[in-house]
Amino acid sequence: MPVAAAHCSIDRLIAVVENGGRVRTGVDVHNKEGVLLLEKSVLVADPDILRKAKAQGAKLVPIVEQEEGGIWDKTGRRIVLAADEGNEAPVKVAVPSSIERKISEIVEIKKAAAVKYEKAKATIKQTLTAIKQTGGEFDLEPIAATVGELFDFVSKNENAFAYLTREIFSYDDYLYNHSVNVCTIGTVVMQKFNASFSAAVNVFLNDHTAGTSGAVPRDDHSFLYFTPSELLDISIGYFMHDLGKVLINPKVLNKPDKLTPEEFEEVKTHVTDKARQILQKNRLTDPYIVDDCLYHHAALYDGEERCYPNQDHRLVPAYAKVCKLADIYDAMTSRRCYKEALNPVGVVTDIFYHYARKDPLLQYALHAFIKSVGIYPAGSVVTLSNGQLAYVLDSSGPVLLPVTDPKGESLTRQPEMIVMGRGGNAPPTLTIDRYRPLVCPLDAYNILPPYLRRTIDADADSGG
Ligand SMILES: [Fe+2]
Ligand SMILES: [Fe+2]
Repeated sequence: MPVAAAHCSIDRLIAVVENGGRVRTGVDVHNKEGVLLLEKSVLVADPDILRKAKAQGAKLVPIVEQEEGGIWDKTGRRIVLAADEGNEAPVKVAVPSSIERKISEIVEIKKAAAVKYEKAKATIKQTLTAIKQTGGEFDLEPIAATVGELFDFVSKNENAFAYLTREIFSYDDYLYNHSVNVCTIGTVVMQKFNASFSAAVNVFLNDHTAGTSGAVPRDDHSFLYFTPSELLDISIGYFMHDLGKVLINPKVLNKPDKLTPEEFEEVKTHVTDKARQILQKNRLTDPYIVDDCLYHHAALYDGEERCYPNQDHRLVPAYAKVCKLADIYDAMTSRRCYKEALNPVGVVTDIFYHYARKDPLLQYALHAFIKSVGIYPAGSVVTLSNGQLAYVLDSSGPVLLPVTDPKGESLTRQPEMIVMGRGGNAPPTLTIDRYRPLVCPLDAYNILPPYLRRTIDADADSGG
C-alpha cells in the first residue's frame, strides 16, 4: 500500500533540532550516489547529523508518519507538515498480503531456529561440563562452528533472533539459555551497529576529538568498522562471556535473595580471576573474546554504579558494551525462579532511557539495540490495552490478529487484522500493553485457534 510522504527542507529540520526538537524520517534517506544520509528509525537530536546530511546532498527530506516518522518541538509536540510539499515519488510500504503466508513463514523459521537453538545449547552444555571437569579446559572448535551457524541464521533472517531467545522454560538451564541468548541478541545488535553506525561514529568522533591533543583515552577497536570475521569473533565472545560462572558456587549464583557483600565479591570473580584462569588455560588471547569475558559488567558511562571490574568506560570497546546491553536485556526478559519475565519491548525502552545521552558512542550502540531488539516478534502473543490477547503476524507495524475478546474468551470467528501505528486501522486508544509480559507459548496454545496452533507445534516438532 503506497503512502505519501510529507517533505521538509533540511534547513528547517536543522533549525528545529538546534532549538531542542527531534526528527525521525520514517524512511531511509539516500543521496544521488546512494549514500545513506538518514536512517529511517533514528530519532535525530543532534543538528550535526543533519548538517552532515545536508553537506552530502540532502535538500528536501521525506517524513513518513505512517512509519513513525515525524518532527517534534522541544516540548515533544508534533510539528504538522503540509503533505507532499515536494514532488518526490510516494514511498512504498509493504503490507502483508495474506495471513496464511505469514503463518507459514513463521512456522518455517521457527522450526529452523529451534534446531539451531538446541544445537547451540548442547554445545555450551558440553563446554561448561568440560570446564568443570578439567578446571578450565575446553574445545573452542565446536563453539566456533555453532556460533558460525547462529551468526549466518540471524544475518539471513531479519528478526529471527526472537525465535532463538524466547524459549526458556527450565530454571535449571538458565546459564545455557542465557549464553545462547546473549550471543544471538549481541550478534544482531552488533551487525546493525556495524552496518548503520560505525562509519557515522568514526566521522562524529574524529570531528569531536580533533584538537584535543589526544587527552581522551580511546581503544582503537571501538571505532573501527568490523570485518565479518571480526564480527564472528565478537559473537564467539558473546557465547562464552559467562564461562567463568561455571567455577562459582551454584548456590551463590542461583540465590534468589540479595547477595551478601562476600557473595557478591565471589560472583564478581567470574569476570576476573575465574575468566582469566579459563582464558589462560586455553591460551585464548583474541581481544574480541577476552574483552567480552572481562568487561561485560563494566561501566557504560562515567560514574555508573555497581559495575565491575573498575574500568574506565572509555577503554571498554563498543562490542563489550553491546554484550552488557544484551546481558541486561536477557536477564530482564527471562523467567527465573525468583521472578517473572518482563515485556521485551518495555525492557528495551527502559534500558534505552536509562542509558540515553550518557555518552556519544553508547548512544549509537543504544540505537542499534532498540532497532534490532525493540520489537514484538512475529509469532508471539501480546496483551492489548483493552485486555484482548493478540497474535503478532508481523513485527513491523506491528500487525496483529486478536485471538480473544477483552474478557479473555476465545473468538468464534476469524477476526480482522489490526495494523498498529500511524496509518494503521487500530483505534487510537488501542495499544499493546508493554507492562504485561508476552504470553508463554504453552499457555498461548490453549487460547489460539487451530490455524495458529501450528506455529507453536513448530517448536515442539523440532525439539524446542
Ligand atoms: Fe556475567
Ligand atoms: Fe551474562
